Amino acid sequence: MLDKINLIQSGFDQDIQNVKSLDDLEIIRIKYLGRKGNIAELFEEFKTLSKDEKPKYGQTLNILKNNCQSKFDEVISKFEAPENGAGSYADLTIPPRVREIGTSHILTQTLNEMKSIFKGLGFSVYEGPELESDFYNFTALNFPPDHPARDMQDTFFVTPEFVLRTHTSPVQIRLMENKKPPLRAIMPGKVYRNEAISAKSYCLFHQVEGLYVDTDVTFAELKGILVYFLKQFFGADIKFRFRPSFFPFTEPSMEVDIWWTPEGKQGRWMEILGCGMVDPNVLKNVNIDPEIYTGYAFGMGVERIAMRKYGIDDIRVFFDNDKRFLKQF
Ligand code: PHE
Repeated sequence: MLDKINLIQSGFDQDIQNVKSLDDLEIIRIKYLGRKGNIAELFEEFKTLSKDEKPKYGQTLNILKNNCQSKFDEVISKFEAPENGAGSYADLTIPPRVREIGTSHILTQTLNEMKSIFKGLGFSVYEGPELESDFYNFTALNFPPDHPARDMQDTFFVTPEFVLRTHTSPVQIRLMENKKPPLRAIMPGKVYRNEAISAKSYCLFHQVEGLYVDTDVTFAELKGILVYFLKQFFGADIKFRFRPSFFPFTEPSMEVDIWWTPEGKQGRWMEILGCGMVDPNVLKNVNIDPEIYTGYAFGMGVERIAMRKYGIDDIRVFFDNDKRFLKQF
């Protein structure tokens, strides 16, 4: 009998130490203190003892019962302590949890800065959908049916008809369809390309498209506005160059590179935008008479512009959402 008492006491002590919830406690109550529990069973056995033996064990048995009950009560009262603080306690040695206040993502900040420069030049902001039809993304922009840019390699086709837009230029078409010239707007947004992911390119990035359509818009004005933007954004000593290029929707076309030297690396040219005079065929596609109106358009890569400004040499960090990176801005 004495052995059983000791066994139950030590079993109880161990179980009560490992309690993690009220459910655990209920299991212990049933096992030890319930009407059919271990201790009740011992009392039943006690009844069958002879008159001589009873006094030997009675006291120890009562001590076991009281011990277990009071320990049980103590533990359950901690779990049931009301929220209002009565009976509960606070550990004043725990360091406070710091409330972190978020900031705009560095790309949002960059976009805002770009927008504010163009707004200052009289451009309004216009947006279009990221899921585009082949017509807006390619056909209306004067891409011939067999143009390599339609290739599955670059374009995410959602259906044979619809694509994730590969550039923001389709928003030019939407704008020209909806409003009459004179038009002067920038069109920021996300674009998607099915390219091998590397430090230089990612499947998703942002562009800021620009469009100005009016009578007598000139190539010199396009150049002037881009140089103004670059100097405002990067500072007057920014080193850049214009290069002849080709796009189906502009003629003539150019690209702009800026010079940058990533930390610990050789300096190099980095392409940041494409631009040109709106191709007459594009104007015809949206019923604007190219004999009366001319226009210029440009499309800038926001990530690359932010990389150069903030000295970031891997485009992927913009999308990792690593707080150690994001917190620096
Ligand atoms: N849409 C082109 C691109 O993504 C850039 C561009 C925009 C070129 C407008 C000319 C005019 O590469």
